[in-house]
Amino acid sequence: MEAAPTPTRQLLVVCQSRSGGTARLVEAFVEGAASEGIEGVATRVLAPLDAGVDDVLGAAAVVLAAPANFGMINGLMKDFLERIYHPCLEATVGTPYALVVKGDTDGTGAVRDTDKILTGLRWKPVQPPLVVIGPLTGEHLDAARELGATIAGGLAFDLW
Ligand SMILES: Cc1cc2nc3c(=O)[nH]c(=O)nc-3n(C[C@H](O)[C@H](O)[C@H](O)COP(=O)(O)O)c2cc1C
Repeated sequence: MEAAPTPTRQLLVVCQSRSGGTARLVEAFVEGAASEGIEGVATRVLAPLDAGVDDVLGAAAVVLAAPANFGMINGLMKDFLERIYHPCLEATVGTPYALVVKGDTDGTGAVRDTDKILTGLRWKPVQPPLVVIGPLTGEHLDAARELGATIAGGLAFDLW
């Protein structure tokens, strides 16, 4: 008898980008998540305004990617977190997550505030945040690609 196929696990990427920098990092992330050998993982990229409670409830892991604005995470990402927080509070405990933050000078506040919210949700950080400051380089895109491969690979191989 053939083994039942492994169900596809959803990797949700919520991406906000006004001038394209974060979006380019997320494109590289998605490339990495589709690396050879990673199977059974479907990566979905949604803008914060298009993402809601059902998307989070259906996700096996979540990546939040956004610019640092005024020393905090971008407002649309914060709005997304405000909308999903209470409906997801009990149902998503332990959700693996990672952050991608794009800034010009300092992403520290954005990471700190977002981690605090996700700690409240009791989600689990599975990789250090990818914080990219200044103009994008090939190295930054490589790091985003590697993060995508790591997060998706971790799902494919049941590491988280
Ligand atoms: C209103 C506003 C506030 C910003 N505040 C910060 C900030 O506090 N720290 C920082 O490093 N960059 C800040 N930036 C710069 C953006 O984070 C940076 O340009 C980022 O690359 C934009 O990402 P995007 O290209 O994906 O839109 C700010 C930009 C804007 C428009």
